[in-house]
Amino acid sequence: MDFTLSSQGMVMINNISQLHSYRESISPTQKVGFVPTMGFLHAGHLSLVDSSVKENDKTIVSIFVNPTQFGRGEDFTSYPRDTKADIAMLLDHGVDAVFIPLAEEIYPPDYRTFVEISDLSEKYCGASRPGHFRGVATIVCKLLNLIHPHFMYMGEKDFQQCLVLEQMCRDLHLPTTIKRCPIVREEDGLALSSRNTYLSAQQRGYATCLYQSLLLAKELVKNGVRDTEALVESMRQLIVNNQGVVDYIVFVDERNLAEQVSVDEHSRVLMAVRVGSTRLIDNMRMG
Ligand code: PAF
Repeated sequence: MDFTLSSQGMVMINNISQLHSYRESISPTQKVGFVPTMGFLHAGHLSLVDSSVKENDKTIVSIFVNPTQFGRGEDFTSYPRDTKADIAMLLDHGVDAVFIPLAEEIYPPDYRTFVEISDLSEKYCGASRPGHFRGVATIVCKLLNLIHPHFMYMGEKDFQQCLVLEQMCRDLHLPTTIKRCPIVREEDGLALSSRNTYLSAQQRGYATCLYQSLLLAKELVKNGVRDTEALVESMRQLIVNNQGVVDYIVFVDERNLAEQVSVDEHSRVLMAVRVGSTRLIDNMRMG
């Protein structure tokens, strides 16, 4: 067998040949769940892991800070990393195997192939971060081709990412089903994110304005407001009053991310806001 067993029984895989050997060792009758991550794990990631462990015979987690999804001037080099702590958490949560590839093997110097999902990738976070979803789709497509999971677990915090990857799986006939899992929040409502560590204590206080604005919109909708422009304006005011800089706030049909002018039963509001230099995203169902 060409893969390494850690002492506690979790398989540590560092290259593609080991991954193939491990994958072949799993019986075709066993269900495989996969959680792709960029590491620096928190309770949000662990909720995905727990769902996979519960629902599958084997759970594989990948840790890879994917360079192609970061734009120029973004935080690729400063993205937080703590692989030792990640491994300890994954062991604790009953993960069967962790794949931590080297960038040189994933993107060798002669690498040329990228996956683009038109339209869905170009708006909202895609407009603010050109090339981001191309990088995400490329790495996830490669990981799915390597791992062949039955199910892949994704957090709804990255709601647009969920839809982009679902579209990719459909369009490319990939036999993996994506399972969306609910957003995990701090007690004060801030959605968990590895990037929350960038916030100073004062900014951390302001950062709750995303969740507060989502709750405000929900309340207004409950009271009969349907006009999305008016709702966005109320949310924007709350954010601006809390030192946030709005990147975008948009009401969409959650089935296809089409922008809405009026709230209906399929509405979801998506948002990205800068607090200091940290870009935070969040979303909530409004329908
Ligand atoms: O959501 C993330 O952490 C990343 O975009 C993913 C899906 C692991 C791809 O690098």
